[in-house]
Order: sequence, then structure tokens, then C-alpha cells
Amino acid sequence: MKFPALAGLTLLLWTASAAGGDGPDAGSSLYNGLGEIPATVSISGAAALPAARFPCRTCHGRDGAGGREGAAPPIRGSDLFRATPARPAYDAASLKRALEEGRTPDGRILSSLMPRYAMDDATFARLSTYLDRLTGLQRRGVHPRSVTLAVAVPPDNAATARRYGEALKWALDELLGGRPIHGRTVAVTLLAGDTAAILDGAEDTVAIIGLAPSAQLDVPVFTDRQVPVLFPLFPLAGSEDTTIVRGLMADRQDALRAIADRLASDRATAVTVIDAPGCGDEGDAFVRRYALPGNRYTLSPLPLSGKHPRDVLLLCRDRKTAGRILHDLPASSRIYGLAGELLSSTEAGRHHLVLASPEASLVSREVQANIVDIHARSAARLLVSALKSAGRNLDRTTLVTAVGAVADAERQLDYAADPLNGTAFVPFIETKPR
Ligand code: HEC
Repeated sequence: MKFPALAGLTLLLWTASAAGGDGPDAGSSLYNGLGEIPATVSISGAAALPAARFPCRTCHGRDGAGGREGAAPPIRGSDLFRATPARPAYDAASLKRALEEGRTPDGRILSSLMPRYAMDDATFARLSTYLDRLTGLQRRGVHPRSVTLAVAVPPDNAATARRYGEALKWALDELLGGRPIHGRTVAVTLLAGDTAAILDGAEDTVAIIGLAPSAQLDVPVFTDRQVPVLFPLFPLAGSEDTTIVRGLMADRQDALRAIADRLASDRATAVTVIDAPGCGDEGDAFVRRYALPGNRYTLSPLPLSGKHPRDVLLLCRDRKTAGRILHDLPASSRIYGLAGELLSSTEAGRHHLVLASPEASLVSREVQANIVDIHARSAARLLVSALKSAGRNLDRTTLVTAVGAVADAERQLDYAADPLNGTAFVPFIETKPR
């Protein structure tokens, strides 16, 4: 990979750290297993555990349509509060009995696959409301004649996001020319303002597309509110849930594995792994994970006091700290790391850097164009395929599921093979000191 891509790539890079804002309500938390919930759960009569350990979503599905685990039935409000051939309709009192004692309205005992929960009345009321809201929540952004996708414009990365929004509209227009898919035109709306305004706006869209890196808005602030996030502009962590998140470049775990492979193929036999406060225990975790016989890696605190190691690995999620550490490292060392953390136009010329860059998988195929435009074109193609295969019965979950069936040979993306990102390919960028 050559240097010209650098300018485009730095556009995408940012310090990614947690965002604020208030969390989801207790009903959604209990259903989706988010945060602290005033409820407990017990399986087969065993001792009570925090309810977050067995969220309803795991078995009944994020959309409440059932069938994810065993024979878990649909439990949207519209399913429960009406009779079926198997049982009479639930009401509030009988639903609480089903959750606490596992008894249906006609007295059948639910199988032990369905855990037993204990919660106070207020929490139960919130859960019940959430079950009622599930269908509507899933259909947000889906209208009879249109479907609304959103691009969020984080205040700390607005220019990139706005440019992305325009590029996505343009790319969709190029592919569709305004023609509807299954009777719906595809609209892209830009969500701007402060964090609260953006999250508010997101409630009325089917998914957030091409999220730009930002310290104020990260993936979980949307997914905690059940808003899908598709194809962010940065590599995902690798542990995201594919029922609500999909990427289009290799994730951080793929990149770390690629670095371990690259160190091996570069015959780096004595690698100094930086262990610095402010970087988390990323270095330590890497050494433990990829440790080999023969002590290839040595964890070293800073400063490196007089040493001039040949090969250094620097992992640090905080880009500012990473930049400071990089600045002080000897120019004679070969420094390995992640482009998202270490690539900056000022430092690149001072060091010999070998950087794993999932982002660069986009530019490697179309070097001439701007990376934001290339990403938007890929995202548009994936969205059109997914919207076509999702059919007329579209909602948030069916859209995200449909991405899982996309195979785009030209862009080498195949979500059947790699469900989260469609690829695990990690290119490297190598820069030499001037
Ligand atoms: C570990 C998997 C699992 C989890 C977690 C789980 N369920 Fe269930 N649930 C089931 C299964 C399986 C059944 C069907 C049992 C049967 O019919 O005997 C069921 C049945 C039910 C029923 C009865 C539906 C009917 O039509 O009679 C309700 C209501 C229900 N679950 C609600 C919930 C709620 C609310 C949560 C979260 C607080 C939850 N479940 C968590 C597996 C699960």
C-alpha cells in the first residue's frame, strides 16, 4: 500500500471513546440485557441471578417474533394479548404469572427453557409496555411508500459526516434513479444538532448508515435504543451483535490477528510491546493472546531508557496518548500498530511504521477516488441488495438480517462467510522515515 491513501484515511480517524446521554428505559434494558436492572432470574429452580444474564431477546429475538432459541414463541404485545389455538389471551396479571411462575392463562406450566423472573410492579409495567411497543419500534422509518435511512452528523466530526451523507444520496440515486424498491423510495436524512437531537431523530429511521468516528456518538448509543447501525466508517470492535450491527471492513480483532501474523512473517523475533498508562491493557492483552514459545514479545513500560529496540508494538485506543508515545519512540525502530490509532500525517514521516488498516481495504481497489465516496458507494450497493431481498415486509430486523445474505463479489464482501463485516481482509500501510 502506497502513501497517497494517507490523506484520505486520516479523514476517517478519530479518538473513539464512550458517549454520554441517558440510557434506555427499564423495559428495554430487561428485554435486551442492558445495564443494571432491578430484576432477577432463575433457571430450573437454581439460585437467582441478575436478570441481565438472560435477556428475553436471546431466545425471543430482538423483534419479539420468537424462534431464536428452542421453541420460543412470539411475545410482542400483539401476540400475547390475544388468544391463540394453544391458549387464551394474556392480561397484565396472567403475564406477570407467566414470567414469575411459568404459568400460562389456562394453567399450563411453561417448559424450563423459559426462565422464571422476579421483578417489582414498576419494572413489570415497563417491560409490558416495551412488549407492546416492539412491533412499532421495529417498523420505525418504514412507511407505506418510503423508507428512511439516516446519516448522523456528530458535532465533533461534522464535515466528514455531511460529505458522507451527500455521497450516499448521490450513490443511491445513481443506482436507483428514484425508482422504488418493493413500492418504497429510499430516502436519506441527515441528523444534525447536539447528541440528544441526533438520538431523537434516529428513533424515526430504519438504520444509521456510515457512522463517522466521534468521541460523542458511538455504536452502542444507537443500538441501546434499538436503532441498527450499518457500515460505520471505522472498524468495529469485533464483538458486536449481528442482529443490529454490520460493518464493511475487517474489525479490530481481525486487525490484531493480522499484526501477529505480520510480525511473524517479518521475522520480528524480539518485539518490545509498549505498556503505558492511558492505553488500557491493550499491549498486555495482545501478548497474552498471541504469546508464542520463545518469548517473542516483551512487555515494556515507558520510557524505554536507553534501549533502541528494533521492533516495537504500540497499541493504544486513545489517539492523543498514542501520538505522544509515538513521538518519543526512537526513529531507528520499526513500529507496528493500528492505522486508526497511530496514523497521523505529522508523525508518519518521522518513523518506520507498519500499520494494520482495515480502512485501507476500501482504497486499495479504487486508489483515485476519495475514501468517503468509495465507502458510500459500497454501502449504497449493499443497502440496495438488502432492501431488495428483505421484501415488502420490511422492518429494522429484516433489513439487518437481509444484509447477512449479501455477497458482493466485486467488493469481495460476503456476509454468509463473515456475518459481522463480510470480510476479514486487513491490508497494511508501511511508511519509511524521510
Ligand atoms: C433461555 C431462553 C428464554 C429466555 C431468556 C426467555 N424466554 Fe420466554 N420462553 C422461552 C421458551 C422456550 C418458551 C416456550 C415455553 C413453553 O411453551 O413451554 C417461552 C415462553 C414465554 C412466554 C409464553 C408465551 C405464550 O404464548 O404462552 C412468555 C410470555 C415469555 N416467554 C416471555 C418472556 C420474557 C418477557 C422474557 C424476558 C424477561 C423471556 N420470555 C425470556 C424461552 C425463553
